[in-house]
Formats: sequence, structure tokens, C-alpha cells
Amino acid sequence: MGSPPPGTAISDLPPIEPDTARSNPDAHQHDDDAGYETDGLSRTSTSLASSIRNYSFENARRYHKFKEGRYQFPNDEPEQEREDMKHAVAVHLLEGKLHLSPLDRPQSILDLGTGTGSWAIDISDEYPEAEVVGVDLSPIQPAWVPPNVKFLVDDAEAAWLNPPDSIDLVHLRNMSTAIKDWPALLARAYTALKPGAWLEIQDFRWAFDCDDGTMPDDHAPAIMVTTIAAGLSKFGVDLHVATTLPGRATAAGFTNIVHTVRRVPVGPWARDPALKTIGLYTRGVIYDGLQAITLGPLTRGLKWTPEAVELFLVKVRKELMDPSVHSYVFFHCLCAQKPLGEEPGPGR
Ligand SMILES: C[S@@+](CC[C@H](N)C(=O)[O-])C[C@H]1O[C@@H](n2cnc3c(N)ncnc32)[C@H](O)[C@@H]1O
Repeated sequence: MGSPPPGTAISDLPPIEPDTARSNPDAHQHDDDAGYETDGLSRTSTSLASSIRNYSFENARRYHKFKEGRYQFPNDEPEQEREDMKHAVAVHLLEGKLHLSPLDRPQSILDLGTGTGSWAIDISDEYPEAEVVGVDLSPIQPAWVPPNVKFLVDDAEAAWLNPPDSIDLVHLRNMSTAIKDWPALLARAYTALKPGAWLEIQDFRWAFDCDDGTMPDDHAPAIMVTTIAAGLSKFGVDLHVATTLPGRATAAGFTNIVHTVRRVPVGPWARDPALKTIGLYTRGVIYDGLQAITLGPLTRGLKWTPEAVELFLVKVRKELMDPSVHSYVFFHCLCAQKPLGEEPGPGR
């Protein structure tokens, strides 16, 4: 078994070069503010009891019912479309790869917080001999899936039923919005992985940065993500956990930690054509999800009224589309290997 490609330190990353030809603000009209269909109730998973197919509703958005209140974001059709767009962005950021961990004929892959199941389904195509299990609080995965994929409604932070030393890859993506107890989750992953197998955690770190002074201090989208982080912290969720995960994985006993970081432009302002497309999609992911990503953390966590959230979003919407602001976020990918030897991880 090899190693993941070398990782990156943020300080080694070159700045994103802006596309100086794009100077006409009127040329960047947002055209995907489309109406939503919200009849996603027809989507069900193959292995579910009917009781956990229920949903709860709040502020005209649909949320998971199983362990209600555990996760602060909706699971309705518009949110699923947005998650699939984020899936496409993440795969593009890794040059078309679903994972960076070196896998050798994996037999067992576990995807925690699988969402719409897009990653799980794609990896089951890549490794048809592997059994892929996607776990989520919401039964929003398609019914018709490849025979080597199974979806389960469960809480990834509850005790795992997987036998020790049984999994070749434990994967989590975009779960910084959800996980409360990372040390416990890393310890469970360590136990469940085979010796020599890999844990891979991919995540955007939602804090806006800028290198060329074009982002004002009071940039509303940047304030929005800071406010979301404050709201999530009320539930014990650290939105910015990505930077501390390498240290946490080491503390959990993992070795060969490879941390890969990418700058992700927000908006199509980069000169590089691939980054320009990624930036356009990333901005779309944020713009289309403004209500979804703010309502839970701000109303449930910070006790804002829904009206105050909507008012705030008017400014965010406008400033997010400002082409003169060259903001970006980071995408992190952590690969960590369970040692090949017999040594138990700390706390086992
Ligand atoms: C931001 S989405 C990411 C989906 C998927 N990993 C991806 O990258 O496309 C987070 C998902 O995690 C699920 N989730 C949140 N907390 C969870 C938990 N404790 N156990 C299982 N799933 C959880 C949510 O229901 C949601 O579908």
C-alpha cells in the first residue's frame, strides 16, 4: 500500500491570480435564483423502517426527524441539489478524485453523513468489489443504487456496530457542520479500521479570506459565516475544525497524516479557467443555500427571528455577487492511516 500524494501547508500555497479582464460588474448577473420544488418526500432509502422516514418542518424548510434537532440544516429537495453541486466542486478540487488515500482493492468502505449518497454511489462504481455503507440521519438517498451500496439511517456519533479491524476506508466529507465529539469519532474510526487502512476527512473551512485587499472588513458574506460558526458553537459544533484535525488524528493514534489544502475562490474571479469554474459553482452553492445555512444556526442557536435572518440575507445576497471582491475559502483533505502493527490507539 502506498502513501497519499504529498500534502500542502497553507503558507506554501500560491495566491489565486485574479482575472483582470473581468471588470464590468454588470457582466455578473446571478441567473440561478430559481424557484424550488419541495416534494422530496417521495425519495426513500432501501433499508428503512417507515418510522424514521418522517420529517419535521420549520420555517418552511424540511428537517430530519430521527434524532430530531441533532443537525441544524434542512434535508429537502433544494438542499439535496445544493449538496450535489458541492459534491461536484469537491471532486473538481481533487482533480476528479473521490479520495486521496491510497486504496488497494478495498472490501469495506464507510461513508459517515452520506447525504444524498453521491460520493458513496460514485465510489461503489470505482470499487465494485467493495461493500459501501452510507450512514445518515436523513433517508434522502435514492432507492435505486448499485448492488454494492447500502444506506442506513443512523447517528454517526452513536456507538458503532462495526466489528474492530473490519473497514478499509472511513470517509467523512463536509461534516464540520455536524460532528460534536471529534475525539470520540476518531477513536471509533480507529477501532473499526483494519490495521493499515485509512481515514479520510474532506471539508471546506467556511471562513472568508482575501489576499489583495478587495474584501472590506464588513463584508456581509464573511460576517455571515462567522455568525453561522457562532450559532453552531451553541450546539457544540466547531465549523472550523478542519485546521485542528491533523493534530486530533495524531492524538487518536493515526500515523502517516497527510493534510492537503486548496484555496477555493468564491465567485468566478480567478484567471485560471478551472478555478474560475470552481469559484462560480462555490458561489452558487453559497447563494442558493443562504436560507438553508443560516436559519438553523441563527434562529435555533442565536435566537434571531426568521425575519431578522431574511433581512440580513438581503445584504449578503448583494455583496456575494460583487465581482470586485476576491474572497476565497479553504478546502481541506486529511488522510490518516491506522498503524499496521498491533499497537492500540490512545484510550483503547
Ligand atoms: C453537509 S451534508 C454532507 C453530505 C455528504 N457527506 C457530502 O459531502 O455530499 C451533512 C450530512 O450529514 C448528515 N448528518 C449530520 N449529522 C449526522 C450524524 N450525527 N450522523 C449521521 N449523519 C449526520 C446530515 O443529515 C447531512 O446529510
